[in-house]
Amino acid sequence: MRIAVAGGTGTLGRHVVDALQAAGHEPVSLNRSSGADLVRGDGLADLLRGADAVVDASSVSSTSAKASVAFFGAVTRNLLRAEREAGVAHHVAVSIVGAAKVRANYYAGKALQEELVMAEEGGWSLLRATQFHEFAAQLVEHGKVGPFQVVPTMRSQPIAAAEVAAELAAIAAGEPAGLVPDLAGPREERMADLVRRYLAARGRGGRVLEVPVPGAWGRGMRDGSLLPDAGARLGKQTFDEWLGDVAPGRAGAA
Ligand SMILES: NC(=O)c1ccc[n+]([C@@H]2O[C@H](COP(=O)([O-])OP(=O)(O)OC[C@H]3O[C@@H](n4cnc5c(N)ncnc54)[C@H](OP(=O)(O)O)[C@@H]3O)[C@@H](O)[C@H]2O)c1
Repeated sequence: MRIAVAGGTGTLGRHVVDALQAAGHEPVSLNRSSGADLVRGDGLADLLRGADAVVDASSVSSTSAKASVAFFGAVTRNLLRAEREAGVAHHVAVSIVGAAKVRANYYAGKALQEELVMAEEGGWSLLRATQFHEFAAQLVEHGKVGPFQVVPTMRSQPIAAAEVAAELAAIAAGEPAGLVPDLAGPREERMADLVRRYLAARGRGGRVLEVPVPGAWGRGMRDGSLLPDAGARLGKQTFDEWLGDVAPGRAGAA
């Protein structure tokens, strides 16, 4: 099958492209260097020609609710419109466990994305996953303040992006399934500990400062809102196994 991956160059998207290739499908990445601007809606018609499904693994690197709502609103509307015009039968979206409940900052955009997808009469699947193991690396890239590594107080049950990607690839190859059961990692972790272990494994210095983020966003991170409930399926690879597997120099980009 020809399956487009919006954000096929990102942390998750690269694994979705690999998983699709491994399963014998033909992945097509929709990202800026492949000629698609998802926010403006440019270049989608050409790249979606002949596609059977779209996996949306795009994201914006911002914690602002305004930026996140603008990004996920525009991208989701543009993709759904372009898919309708190109006759693509299946839209696969990925969201975050608890994001729609917390609905603040970045999660406000995810909540809107979920609503837009679920408002469609059919032809969609939506998977909510917990933070990726790679999220610790993403925090390191963005949370350096002088000699400190600032990390929010956060309870999480992280999962390898590759496991989420394998699930998305399988969903995309099947019939539209609506809201599917959540996917989480094998065990609960504290984000500051993950960042400490990540930095130690990379041989990088810097003291980790765990900071409670104010407001609804920070409360959601601390109070267990982002943890899976009893109905969730659990992935296999622990954070430490993932750290051991990621070749030196790759975890930052993993
Ligand atoms: N990270 C996590 O822990 C986590 C956990 C659960 C769910 N999720 C969800 O998983 C999805 C992917 O997250 P991620 O962390 O993998 O994202 P990411 O690494 O930041 O990748 C973002 C992707 O979006 C593309 N993109 C951004 N703006 C674009 C634009 N205007 N036009 C075209 N492409 C654009 C980028 O491609 P170019 O820059 O090459 O254009 C890149 O491929 C998101 O929906 C996120 O909410 C993430």
